Amino acid sequence: MTAPSGSTTSSEGSVSLERPAEADNAGRTGSKFVVVANRLPVDLEKLPDGTTRWKRSPGGLVTALEPILRSNQGAWVGWPGVADVDLDPIVEEGLDLYPVRLSAQEVADYYEGFSNATLWPLYHDVIVKPEYRREWWNAYVEVNRRFAEATSAASAEGATVWIQDYQLQLVPKMLRMLRPDLTIGFFLHIPFPPVELFMQMPWRREIVEGLLGADLIGFHLPGGAQNFMYLARRLAGQQTSRGAVGVRSKLGVVQVGFRTVRVGAFPISIDSGQLDEISRRRSIRHRAKQIRKELGGPKYIMLGVDRLDYTKGIDVRLDALYELLEEGRIDPADTVMVQLATPSRERVDSYVQMRGSIEQTVSRINGEYAQVGRPVVHYIHRPIDRDELIAFFVAADLMLVTPLRDGMNLVAKEYVACRSDLGGALLLSEFTGAAAELRQAFLCNPHDLDDVKDKMEAALHQKREDGRRHMRALRRQVLAHDVDRWARSFLDALAKHGVAGSALLPSDAELSE
Ligand code: ADP
Ligand code: G6P
Repeated sequence: MTAPSGSTTSSEGSVSLERPAEADNAGRTGSKFVVVANRLPVDLEKLPDGTTRWKRSPGGLVTALEPILRSNQGAWVGWPGVADVDLDPIVEEGLDLYPVRLSAQEVADYYEGFSNATLWPLYHDVIVKPEYRREWWNAYVEVNRRFAEATSAASAEGATVWIQDYQLQLVPKMLRMLRPDLTIGFFLHIPFPPVELFMQMPWRREIVEGLLGADLIGFHLPGGAQNFMYLARRLAGQQTSRGAVGVRSKLGVVQVGFRTVRVGAFPISIDSGQLDEISRRRSIRHRAKQIRKELGGPKYIMLGVDRLDYTKGIDVRLDALYELLEEGRIDPADTVMVQLATPSRERVDSYVQMRGSIEQTVSRINGEYAQVGRPVVHYIHRPIDRDELIAFFVAADLMLVTPLRDGMNLVAKEYVACRSDLGGALLLSEFTGAAAELRQAFLCNPHDLDDVKDKMEAALHQKREDGRRHMRALRRQVLAHDVDRWARSFLDALAKHGVAGSALLPSDAELSE
């Protein structure tokens, strides 16, 4: 696998698409490699004048997978991001996109409801209370079935199918029943919760059995893999009306009747080589200097880059900043914070509330500490173009990554990849998957505000030589463990253990990384 082969994504993030000459799946002439995710890598956007355009989809899943798939000439099955549109399959730069239609009611029940108001909070340590509604579950089953059928139609005989994330946990089993010839992998991009939390789920057995339809199930960390193995033994082996389903497990392997399912830890990453290269460009360096000037030439720039999500701890970093200003430990005359926040799941209640409270805190800080024309917090609630984002990474003296819970957090890795100058510092929550790899960051407990404040202050004032040493070590990790290596390790394990593969155990390294 290589770096992405020049996508047509423009600087505004729009993508030019063309219809395929012919989308022909008769006689199973579909793709040999198919990725299935709730979203396509591009979102259809309806403009106020009634026209539409395509733009890059939000979030880390697309960031990670898009380059892999482009360099593999595969197919991608997913939702185009708007309700009630029927689209034919599309070819974009060798990538076959298979749009799955969702009705407005399904967007409300399956996507906003079960996926993002039940599973998302449950899997992120119940930071907000998950809601369990039967009509949402029914929509989840129905939409998962539609994805399984669309995937079956897009897959050639004996193809490899890679299903992504919490929105599609029933697809592995449904697809296996439709197409026993396929090799099926599943990767969860968010944390898999502790057993006591998962047991709240009224449909817990169905979800575990859904996942067990895969040949290989991947998690970011060994802890998630172990939680799942325990649950598989406990739930999927229960007595059913058709008699007992025998489930046995040992490290890395679950035996389901005659089938063997592999379970492993595969920490995801980014296209670090590409970011490193772009961030060295003269135009980006120039823009980074310009950004500092536009911010009023502060001594310190602190930066947050997130989807506007309650898991990201944006409130934590704002509260820490407020108290540090209050205590005179940060001087508003020489320090600014920039928070770039992509709008996300804007109709889900908990997101509406969180946005209100974050915007109030931003106003309070600026109300008390800004001068005219010199805000302390610069808050932008829009997605930022990729090159501009890279220039912000290059400009920032301190990157603030403070989630209460995060499966990995690619932003932390992106920042490190962009710092070939060995400048800057990373404040990183211990509750991210990235913290398992980025040990030389300023690690903090986001539930302990004093700890966050102390680490923020220490990171801003670290000696230049210490900073360079930390950044060098962080970069070694991020540049060596890129997204290509992640995909390769998952797909190699899948090829080895899939339908046509041998029965080898996954290596301990996969589980103990
Ligand atoms: P998640 O997948 O939960 O959104 P990650 O940190 O793993 O979190 O991935 C987020 C991705 O979205 C990263 O590639 C990041 O650069 C991108 N991103 C986040 N915020 C913005 C923003 N405001 N503008 C543009 N891209 C953003
Ligand atoms: C996270 C999830 C992805 C999701 C993305 C954006 O990265 O793991 O599955 O696509 O956030 O969220 P959205 O709800 O906009 O798709």
